[in-house]
Amino acid sequence: MDLPIQKIDQKNGQEQIIGKNILLGVTGGIAAYKSVEFLRLLKKAGADVTVLMTGSARHFVGKTTFEVLSENAVLSDLFSDTESSVKHIDIATKADAVVIAPATANIIGKFANGIADDALTTTLMAVTCPVMICPSMNTDMYQNIRVQRNLDILEQDGWHILDPDSGALACKTVGAGRLPDPWFIFDRLCAMLVKKDLKQKQVLISAGPTIEAIDPVRFVSNHSSGKMGYAIARAAEQRGANVTLVSGPVSLDTPVGVEKIDVLSCGQMADQMLTHLKKADIIIKVAAVADYKPCDPKDKKIKKKDNSKELSVAMTQNPDILKQIGEKKRPDQFLVGFAAETNDLESNALLKMKKKHLDMIAANLVGSSDSGFKADTNKVKLFSKDGSVFDIPLMEKDKLAHILIDQILEKMG
Ligand SMILES: Cc1cc2nc3c(=O)[nH]c(=O)nc-3n(C[C@H](O)[C@H](O)[C@H](O)COP(=O)(O)O)c2cc1C
Repeated sequence: MDLPIQKIDQKNGQEQIIGKNILLGVTGGIAAYKSVEFLRLLKKAGADVTVLMTGSARHFVGKTTFEVLSENAVLSDLFSDTESSVKHIDIATKADAVVIAPATANIIGKFANGIADDALTTTLMAVTCPVMICPSMNTDMYQNIRVQRNLDILEQDGWHILDPDSGALACKTVGAGRLPDPWFIFDRLCAMLVKKDLKQKQVLISAGPTIEAIDPVRFVSNHSSGKMGYAIARAAEQRGANVTLVSGPVSLDTPVGVEKIDVLSCGQMADQMLTHLKKADIIIKVAAVADYKPCDPKDKKIKKKDNSKELSVAMTQNPDILKQIGEKKRPDQFLVGFAAETNDLESNALLKMKKKHLDMIAANLVGSSDSGFKADTNKVKLFSKDGSVFDIPLMEKDKLAHILIDQILEKMG
């Protein structure tokens, strides 16, 4: 799988992690150093983390590192590391999720065969929460029939297996077996912990600005960052949907598992939205589409004229994508629009909902630093076709995205 490059400090899906008891199992693989960074992400997201290390893992990373960063004692030796004789049972009972990263061929074999001969395997025997295994090893080891058989057993038992990345490995071979980046493991953990109430659903989302060419080097656009649309795409994918994201030019990473289609102009966005409309169950139009475009974009750069201080660019209206979708959509499809307003929020939003045949409109005031374009937070009012209004106060866009999806599902019945 081709992985997008993503920043390690991203905040996606933190809601599922805040206050959760996460057990991080570290085993004796060369990638154990990456679990230190993963631990930092968990802590930053507000988790209470207990690290369990195998004896071999301690050859790769020191116990003290995990102890300091997790702010909890590390459990490594079943008989001497605990003040309580049944600490492994206490932490297993309290756990909301377990991540084994990296998971060696050895530990996978032990888990699959019900062996409990150290602190980690014994604790795992007692957990009832979701478990994610992140195999990491040399390619030949990973492809070994016994390792694959053991992974299949764990998957059939209901544990989540995170496929390793492919690439250059520490053992100088190239192939599958590399532990994915910490942010990716974090993202998949968030996905594991959310309800899958969008399974089998197709969600079509538009995000970002459009740009309308004046000439080959200049364009008309707006300040949309795409953050709200991308947050909704991420939340929908985590909840099990197949997500198609039609995106104007933004500098954001593609959410994991989302099919992204890049467009520039309103015309291109309209084509893609209408192409994908038929199979969509839910359509959420978050993109800030340019209402007008230059009538006559030049194919050569417009030169500065010394004898003229002014330049006029005649503009013409772009197609109204939302209105077109509203007119074309089937009754079983749910259409949500966003209204970014600087004034008369409620009346403008209600008018837009009616004119464009929307099922719901999310109205937000733009122009303030903590909501609307570019901000990581937003506050919106949701107006529904049935006359109900739902206020979502200021919060992270990722959290808001989940509440929006809750509301859509409630209205869809
Ligand atoms: C330098 C070195 C690197 C290793 N890297 C890996 C690895 O990436 N994946 C793996 O499955 N085993 C790896 N091993 C082998 C394991 O450490 C060995 O199988 C050990 O018994 C695993 O113990 P554990 O599963 O209890 O942690 C490595 C061994 C050495 C010496």
